[in-house]
Amino acid sequence: MRTLIIMAMLVAGLVFSGQAFADAAGTYAGKCAMCHGKDGGGGAMAPALKGSDFIKGDAAAVKSVILEGRQGGDKKYSNFSIGMPKFQLSDADADALVDYLKGL
Ligand code: HEC
Repeated sequence: MRTLIIMAMLVAGLVFSGQAFADAAGTYAGKCAMCHGKDGGGGAMAPALKGSDFIKGDAAAVKSVILEGRQGGDKKYSNFSIGMPKFQLSDADADALVDYLKGL
């Protein structure tokens, strides 16, 4: 019985530690994939995130684009007519999303 309880706790621990990743994947699928592509490969609406130098670079800069957006004169890509909208995410969710993007 005691072994069973310990095993149950171990399994619960594993599930919990996988949570941040699962949440970031869900956030990406729900809020980002329609423009940046399901796998981050980009599309007609927005540039690729997967493997991009910007994503591989400074995590704080990536986080700031997600939270502040990038519009008008700040825009980097003239081939996409729309800008990057800003998103309201908690600090922890934004950090998890940046990690997720770096792992694409
Ligand atoms: C409505 C379409 C749209 C959605 C939704 C969207 N983006 Fe963007 N995103 C863009 C566009 C367009 C750009 C390029 C802006 C520019 O010209 O600098 C961009 C740029 C970026 C950049 C900077 C890329 C670079 O190379 O400089 C990051 C990072 C980014 N988006 C992340 C995200 C994340 C994460 C989400 C989901 C939370 C998201 N985007 C949702 C349209 C979108």
